[in-house]
Parts: sequence; C-alpha cells; structure tokens
Amino acid sequence: AGAGVDLLAEIDRLKRERNAVILAHYYQRPEIQDLADFVGDSLELSRKAQATDADVIAFCGVRFMAETAKILSPEKTVILPDMDAGCSLEDSCPPDRFAAFRAEHPDHIALTYINCSTEVKALSDIIVTSSSAEKILSQIPKDQPIIFGPDKHLGGYLSRRLGREMLLWPGVCIVHEAFSETELLKLKALHPGAPVAAHPECPPHVLDHADMVGATSAILEFAKTTPSDTVIVATEPHIIHQMEKAVPQKTFIGAPGADGNCNCNICPYMALNTLEKLYLALRDMTPQVEIEEGLRLRAKRSLDRMMEMAS
Ligand code: 13P
Ligand code: SF4
Repeated sequence: AGAGVDLLAEIDRLKRERNAVILAHYYQRPEIQDLADFVGDSLELSRKAQATDADVIAFCGVRFMAETAKILSPEKTVILPDMDAGCSLEDSCPPDRFAAFRAEHPDHIALTYINCSTEVKALSDIIVTSSSAEKILSQIPKDQPIIFGPDKHLGGYLSRRLGREMLLWPGVCIVHEAFSETELLKLKALHPGAPVAAHPECPPHVLDHADMVGATSAILEFAKTTPSDTVIVATEPHIIHQMEKAVPQKTFIGAPGADGNCNCNICPYMALNTLEKLYLALRDMTPQVEIEEGLRLRAKRSLDRMMEMAS
C-alpha cells in the first residue's frame, strides 16, 4: 500500500463497497481479529461462511478454511489475503498417497480432519473439526473400521477418549508439535494451581499434563469461566488476545517451546495474513479461491455429512 494509507479506514470503506464480511480465526494477528466481523473456530467459521448474505467473504485464516467457505458457499467470492497460507497437516497428506492408503483398506471409512486439502476432502466420507469430532465419531457404529487423518495426535486423543481403535495417518501440526514437556513442567512449577488448557493437536506428552482439552472455542470458554486467575494455554498464542479482551483481570501464559517461550508456537501460515494484504485483497479482489465444480461437489459430500452430524 502507498504511504499514508489509513489501512483500517480503507478496509472498512472497501468492505462496505464490496458488501464483504471479514471472518477471522483465533490464530490471526490481534489487529485482524479486532477488525473482523466474526472471530471463531473452524466449525463456527464454516457455519458463518455458509449462512452469510454478503457477496464477498474475506477469509482471514489458512487456505483450507477459505476453500471450505467456497465449497459451502460457491456463489460467493472468497478472498484470502495470502494464498500461501497453507497448513502442515494439509502438506502431510498428498491426495495420491491418501487415495492409495484408502485403497489398501477398502472396508474402512475415512473420517478426516478439516485441516486437509479439498482433494482429500473429496476422497473422504465424513469431515470433522476438533470441536465436532467426538460427537461425530460417537455416531459411527462400533463395528465400522475407520481411517483417521491427517492429524495423528487428534486421532490418538479421540481413540483414547472414546476407547476406539482407528488407523491413523501420520501427520502433525508443526505448531502444537513444538510444545516442550520439560518447559511446560517448569512453568507449572512456577504457577502451582494454574490449569493447563490444551488443543487436541498437541502430542500426548503435553495432553498428559492438561486439565482441559478442546477446540479453540472451548479453550477460550474455559479461560473465561475457570475460577483460576492464571491459565496456561497450550495452543497457538494469538488466541490469548481474545482471552485478555474478555477477562483482562486474569493472567494467560502461552505454553512454551524448547526455548522456554511461546514464540516458536506462532503458526507461520496464519501469520502470513496482514492488515496490508487484507486491504490489497479487498481493493483488487485477488487472490480468490477457485475450485473446479466436480471436485467441489465431491468435497461437499463429506463436509455436508459433518454439518448434519455436528448439529
Ligand atoms: P479449531 O479452531 O477448530 O480448534 O482448529 C484449530 C486449528 O489448528 C486450525 O488450524
Ligand atoms: Fe495448520 Fe497447525 Fe497452523 Fe492450524 S496451527 S493452520 S493445524 S499448521
């Protein structure tokens, strides 16, 4: 943007001109969360994208989220400030390898985390988010074998919770994988009594020390409602912005990585979106999410199953 552009005022003006809605995930930079029309978890954002009557969805999140919005709302223009905003879970699961894995297990259904490509959604039977996974899995008959991908930690957590074996795809989220058990134990010793709230993308040696495990929306709710005045937060630290806004009198501490602070747990993909890129995307209406119609319809089937089973 040219020098002197008032980004906040320009984004607001362009938003009205284009009849756009700005949706943001909790892992976005604070300044983006603050100007969004709605901030939420993956399922909430999908529902908003499906229900909006705006002409344009400016999606401040990662690419698989913006693609989900387009799959569910094909008549809307969906823009993403930076098209390089990918996800390590999506990268871990190339569609051709996933198709081969499915072919090796023809009696299994594929229950798949929403953090994957549109192609992998098209190869799946039912999509889940972290907030809907338990509810959906508990509706699947006990004798039905299941492949769960691409997050092995979420899959392992669900298996343990519901006492149900699943074949797990070996993907991980690089952000949650980076939490250090040793540093977390040191932090807990410094703040005795402070509960640990963790996302199920965390590895089991971190979840073992958690007092609460849940999706971003559930972690935020826990932070607001727990009687403790200090909470250790084992997920991407930008969510702490919402906690501090909601309950400024409490103290929220990001769980540490091996270096002892939470900076290495910032999602590098989410961080690609900036106010300036959002402004340029609204001004130029690019980059836009485009999905070939046959592929979109195939991916929509597994997403529709999620929407039905999660409601
Ligand atoms: P939720 O907001 O659905 O918990 O997802 C977390 C996440 O890692 C998104 O990439
Ligand atoms: Fe993907 Fe992890 Fe970033 Fe979420 S936090 S977008 S799962 S890399």
